[in-house]
Amino acid sequence: MSDELALLAEADRLAADYLHSVAERRVFPTQQALDDLVAFDEELPTAPSAAGDTLNMLRRYGDPASVTSNGGRYFGFVIGASLPEAAAAERLALAWDQCASSYVNSPVMAKIEEVATKWVLEILDLPRESQIGFGTSATACGLSVLAAARRTLLARHGWNVDEDGLMGAPEIKLVVPQTVHITVKKAARLLGFGMNRLIEAPCDEYGRVIPEQLPALDDRTILVLQAGEVNMGEFDRFAEIIPMAQKAGAWVHVDGAFGLWARASTSKKALTDGIELADSWTTDGHKWLNTPYDGAMAICRHADELAVALNSDAVYSTAEPYAQKNLVLEFSRRGRGMPIWAALRSLGREGVDEMVTRHCNQAQMLAEGLRAKGVTVLNRVVLNQVLCTLGDATKNEALLNRVTEEGEVWFGPSKWQGESVFRLSVSSWRTTDADIARAVEVIGRGNQEVLSGPYSQADSSRAVMVSEE
Ligand SMILES: Cc1ncc(COP(=O)(O)O)c(C=O)c1O
Repeated sequence: MSDELALLAEADRLAADYLHSVAERRVFPTQQALDDLVAFDEELPTAPSAAGDTLNMLRRYGDPASVTSNGGRYFGFVIGASLPEAAAAERLALAWDQCASSYVNSPVMAKIEEVATKWVLEILDLPRESQIGFGTSATACGLSVLAAARRTLLARHGWNVDEDGLMGAPEIKLVVPQTVHITVKKAARLLGFGMNRLIEAPCDEYGRVIPEQLPALDDRTILVLQAGEVNMGEFDRFAEIIPMAQKAGAWVHVDGAFGLWARASTSKKALTDGIELADSWTTDGHKWLNTPYDGAMAICRHADELAVALNSDAVYSTAEPYAQKNLVLEFSRRGRGMPIWAALRSLGREGVDEMVTRHCNQAQMLAEGLRAKGVTVLNRVVLNQVLCTLGDATKNEALLNRVTEEGEVWFGPSKWQGESVFRLSVSSWRTTDADIARAVEVIGRGNQEVLSGPYSQADSSRAVMVSEE
């Protein structure tokens, strides 16, 4: 066997060992493993290292300090694990090492991403004339789509932003829910919308835009709505709001980073009624579809508008209009649609439906179990998010520290209406009902301990940061 193949075989062996361990290993690393990360603080080597030395370093110091988000008891953020077929496809893609910019760069990736486009539109039941750019994240895809939206609205008013820029252009307003995800604001900032000019739409107690209090919309407005608000997991009332926006001539974009997948569940699809009327949508594969990072989708009904806004044809590199390099930010890129295609192919409609539905049911089980243990559950649990509190920030922090130290489950802190809360998301294909029962047990016990003594003195640096994902 060549050195290269031996090395890859060893990497595969380590990967298999790792995956074998995810059911039992700690969800959050030990303090010792974290301390040992100083081993990476080496000087840049002058000379090449021995074959296998780098992999060995990862095995020794990387593996123990990893967070087991690819397991079944990680409930932090909305992370999702990696489905076997999607992960396997990704491994193969590394060997192929395709630059999946266009057909001529990689005919196979162009074909697979074309099919992935068709399947995603079918399973999410979105307008079939849409195009999809398979980008790195909902953040990057959101940025692309907002740029395309603004360009389109300006063009409708006779302004060519590509040639003339924004100085002197008619102002395009951006209306977002009060509860909008921070990454939409980031995209807006980068695009020069200006945070002081952002118009916030008031939201109800569930974090949904109140249709009756929608700010004035017109044909120079981009309205962002949400499928799956990050804390409560709720959905805007699309069927009421989007027709109003359309009547005004506004562009409607839906951030559905994880929640758009509710549309693939027969029991949850109704939450998304009317969403198909929007102009554009963003969603991730790497969250609820359980594909590896980085895999996301910018979906746009106005295929040509997206393709023209994102076009990057050069004299040495002209491509078909809907080549991926003309639908995403990246010029050189891996075929990010391939693990998405693999996930859809291996699960089929029924498998995706089953996974999404199961997670929603497990979230209900979690909420009921936690309530029975005296934990306050703050949301209706319409989806896969369970938002909780023990009553105040000190107790919540103490619980998080306790649970993090124990290492059996992990979830993250957040804030709801200015108050400290903690949030559990069920989004890993590996999560079993037994994992849910375990989480209830661990958190219930933690709650008892917090109530009976001051645990909060423990080091809080590992557990506490405000969740935005
Ligand atoms: C509702 C929502 N929108 C957008 C994002 C950003 O997604 P990404 O991390 O893929 O950029 C997230 C999570 O990270 C999210 O939960």
